[in-house]
Formats: sequence, C-alpha cells, structure tokens
Amino acid sequence: MPISSPKPAARKSNPSIGVPFGSLLDIEHLTAKEISVIFENASRFHSRLAKNSSRQQLTKVLAGRRVALLFYEASTRTRVSFEFAAKNLGAVTTVVTAAASSIEKGESLVDTGYTIQATGAEVVVMRHPSSGAAQLLAQHLHVPVINAGDGMHEHPTQALLDAYTMLRHKKSLRGLNVLIVGDIFHSRVARSNIQLLSKFGAHVTLCGPPELLPALASSLAPGIEIQRNLENALVTADVIMMLRVQKERLEGLNLNIADYVANYQLTPDRMRLAPRDAVIMHPGPMIRGMEITAEVADGPQSAIVEQVANGVPVRMAVLTRALGIKK
Ligand code: NCD
Repeated sequence: MPISSPKPAARKSNPSIGVPFGSLLDIEHLTAKEISVIFENASRFHSRLAKNSSRQQLTKVLAGRRVALLFYEASTRTRVSFEFAAKNLGAVTTVVTAAASSIEKGESLVDTGYTIQATGAEVVVMRHPSSGAAQLLAQHLHVPVINAGDGMHEHPTQALLDAYTMLRHKKSLRGLNVLIVGDIFHSRVARSNIQLLSKFGAHVTLCGPPELLPALASSLAPGIEIQRNLENALVTADVIMMLRVQKERLEGLNLNIADYVANYQLTPDRMRLAPRDAVIMHPGPMIRGMEITAEVADGPQSAIVEQVANGVPVRMAVLTRALGIKK
C-alpha cells in the first residue's frame, strides 16, 4: 500500500503547467497582476511587523500548518527568512538539509519529496543546485512547491523582494533604470529580476565582462541592454544591483579576478558618477573587496540590509498564497 499523507491536501492543479495550485516555481509564468497582489499582501504584513515591537506572534493564519524547508544548497538569508516568515504566521516548520538527512544516503529528490509529503508537509520550499528541480518536484507532489533557487534558472522570491524594495524607494517600476552588474551568467537572481522588471516596464541594463555576461543575455527579455563599461552605465542608473562572482560555478571559465575588480568593483569614486538618489542593492552573500567596497556597501545609498529584512514579509505573502489564504 502506498504511504499516504496523514491529511491529504486536495489535489488542485494549475492546468497550464500541471503543478499543485499555489506553487511558485518562477517569475516567468506569473502575471504582473499576480505579482502586484503579492506586493500588496507583503506590504500589509510589513506594516504589521513594524508595529509588532513586542515580537508576539503576528497572526495565526497558518496556525498548525506544516511548512518544510528542503535545502540542497547553502543558504543563510533565504532559509532564515522563509522560516521566520512561516513562524510569524503560526506555521510549524522543519528544515531538511542535504547533510544530516537521507539525501546523504543517496535518496532521490522525488523520493525525498514523497517522504516529506507523507509526513504531513503542506508546502515544500526548496533550494536545489539543478535548474528545473523545483518544477520536477512539483510535478510529483500534490502540495505546493516554492522555488527558493534552482541552479542557474530562477530565484523568484528574491526577485519579488528586490522589486518590493525598489518600490519602497521609487514611485514605480515603469521606466526605472535598473543596472545589474557582475556574474549575470550564473545568476538565477538576475534571471528572475530580468523577468519581473520587464513585466513592469523597467529598463534593465546588464553590465559585466563577456565571460560573465554573454552577448546573448540580451535575448532574456525584450529591451535588455548590455553595457561593458561600468562608469558609463552608472550615469543613468536609478537602481544598481551588484552580484557576487559565483566562484563555485566558474570552472572552465578563464576569469582574471584582478581585472574584474579593477573594472567592475563598485567603489566610492564610481558611485560619484551615479545619480545621488540611486539605490544600491545586492542579493547577498556579498564579498566585500570583490564586487563592492565596504564603504559603498555600508554607505547611505545602500539598501542591502533592508532587502534582507523585506524578505520576511514578502515570503509571508508567498506562503499564504501557497496555502490559499486570502487575508
Ligand atoms: C543568491 C543565490 O543563492 O541565488 N543569494 C540569495 O539567495 N540571496 C546569490 C548568490 O549565491 O550569489
């Protein structure tokens, strides 16, 4: 007899992609309207968090609901903010990491998913080193899957919190000049941001050396511009998003790190070329002294810490969406 979940969730599918309703696998297949609803709910949670100085549990809308966090790859902010987001809503959480679980013994992704579902998980948040892993898992489970980063594909909740942060500094995404600098090739964050920003009519410019930014990146969405010269690109930037060079994925690439730092590091001198109200962002983890100097990272234009904080209300909105909670 197959093992079944103690409380099977109703199997509702999104017919367009055949995955459980409430799943969030990428930004590409979300509409601008769906994204706006997530922002509205995040903003509501945000105001409530801000008023909640006594740190009491914010709401019980997910009281007793079980959220599993399945992390096959390193993470600090994404994992912690998903867990705190779930707990702020009253949910019960469990974190499964590759080390110290049966994944280490060779259990397949899908079997691990079945196991987590059979124990009663009602949502699975997953980070995985392979592109498409979240989609694969979602096709096999009847509970929603939230992609917390899959290989070089997408990191939808990061793009949501990034755009949410931009909207707290700028009136609209429409017409906003967003400059993304660095290792675009390996970045799921860049891919999700490009998708999201294009849906809202922002102008996206990508900047980096050919090794980390192939010319064909301009085909990721219509109207994407490529600039190789950071100084030129900074002049019109409203938002400057710096990315880490993903050394763990550099194998086979002939990147000269000293040249990279000389040409693409965001320094105080370079920042003087940008508009005074330009906002500096970084999805983290940032490597001070590599893509950004400490002075810039901690300077008055930096929204880097704020981005991390915004991850909590944004993920609260994504978790309530996954479980079909309207308010
Ligand atoms: C990034 C990731 O893991 O995709 N970080 C994040 O989740 N905020 C970016 C990176 O690893 O450089």
